[in-house]
Amino acid sequence: MNFLHLLPLALFALAAESPPGYDAAACNQSPSLCTKPYNSILQLGAHNSAFVRTAANSYQSSANQYFNATIQLSAGVRLLQSQIHLDKGSIKLCHTSCLIFDAGTLDVWFAEIAGWMKTHPSEVVTLLLVNDEKIPPAQLKTLFDNSGLGALAFTPSGTGWPTLGEMVGNDTRLVTFLSEGADVKAAPYLLPEFDYVFETPFETFGPDKFSCMADRPGGVAGKESTTPLIPLMNRFFYDVISEQLKLYISNSTYSSTLNSDQGVGNLADGVATCQKSWGGRSGGYVLLDFVNDGSPMAVVDRVNNVTKAYNRAEFPENPEKAQAQAKQDKEMGWSRIEKLSTRAREGGEVKAAEWVFYAGNWAGSL
Ligand SMILES: *[C@@H]1O[C@H](CO)[C@@H](O)[C@H](O)[C@H]1NC(C)=O
Ligand SMILES: *[C@@H]1O[C@H](CO)[C@@H](O)[C@H](O)[C@H]1NC(C)=O
Ligand SMILES: *[C@@H]1O[C@H](CO)[C@@H](O)[C@H](O)[C@H]1NC(C)=O
Ligand SMILES: *[C@@H]1O[C@H](CO)[C@@H](O)[C@H](O)[C@H]1NC(C)=O
Repeated sequence: MNFLHLLPLALFALAAESPPGYDAAACNQSPSLCTKPYNSILQLGAHNSAFVRTAANSYQSSANQYFNATIQLSAGVRLLQSQIHLDKGSIKLCHTSCLIFDAGTLDVWFAEIAGWMKTHPSEVVTLLLVNDEKIPPAQLKTLFDNSGLGALAFTPSGTGWPTLGEMVGNDTRLVTFLSEGADVKAAPYLLPEFDYVFETPFETFGPDKFSCMADRPGGVAGKESTTPLIPLMNRFFYDVISEQLKLYISNSTYSSTLNSDQGVGNLADGVATCQKSWGGRSGGYVLLDFVNDGSPMAVVDRVNNVTKAYNRAEFPENPEKAQAQAKQDKEMGWSRIEKLSTRAREGGEVKAAEWVFYAGNWAGSL
């Protein structure tokens, strides 16, 4: 019997565009996660996912990431959080105000995410849209449907969370939460965040200041046990630039420790502490700034008992650090070359090996 006709044709079309070696037997980068309910696994989230520091914006300090959604998703990030705002009639991704940081229109970001999801057919992705201005869900739904994200959207049936495998099987692999303004009659898959999720505090001012207490929604604030809501652990902190102006900048110099399993405030200990205080539950989200720094996927894999990652492309090197390092190497190289030339001019002895060493050290960074 020829069973090929039983396989959906669409899957062949999609698989053809997938990255070489893409293994659709894995759900969210591991076959072992296919049988796990959505709310029983720990998922890595990117805080302000769309606000990306790049050389083009001089690594602007009001942005919270170093890589775009495509690279975040390929590296294993499964929750993309971002703010949406109305600006001159269009819906945009802006940080507090479009005058502070403007990451462009929402439809472009949606197209990027839809493009990635189509070429990665066994991945379940979650969007958390912070909708302070209460942009009407009907308006958002149009953008979801036009981008192709609407067709992938998951609508809960009220019987608890399905497994990742079930969501992949039905091709309803996109969970979307709105922080405010949801209206499930107008848009059934744009879910009211706080009917499903609780968050720990989102304004923390040092690596030793994280708390496992619920902060939102109001009904559970100050409590530790909030079942059945899914916990979202805010795992970033701010440096205070001006207390008076409430000017806070996300700390980016400590993120490789913060997003790791060593040192004060590290992610692994933070997750373990909270899960213990929540009665040993294993699922939830961790929301990180500079999610490329440290080793957050290793931490998340360990919690999820994943020993081998499938379909994962590690983050490239942090571009700002690489640039700073290159600049430093170059400056050091030049100052040493200058010292050597001065010595030579003043009649001092310069060994050939010194030139070779210094040349080797700085030439590559010019
Ligand atoms: C995402 O970023 C990478 C480099 O960091 C770039 O090559 C790629 O074009 C970007 N993708 C989109 C959709 O902007
Ligand atoms: C998958 O689709 C079937 C048929 O429409 C439905 O009964 C089932 O609840 C769906 N499962 C999920 C996880 O959405
Ligand atoms: C970031 O936080 C670390 C740890 O508290 C601190 O040592 C460092 O000075 C902070 N960075 C900035 C730029 O304030
Ligand atoms: C990982 O293993 C622990 C200990 O057996 C278990 O409590 C937890 O639920 C597992 N996590 C997942 C995602 O299967």
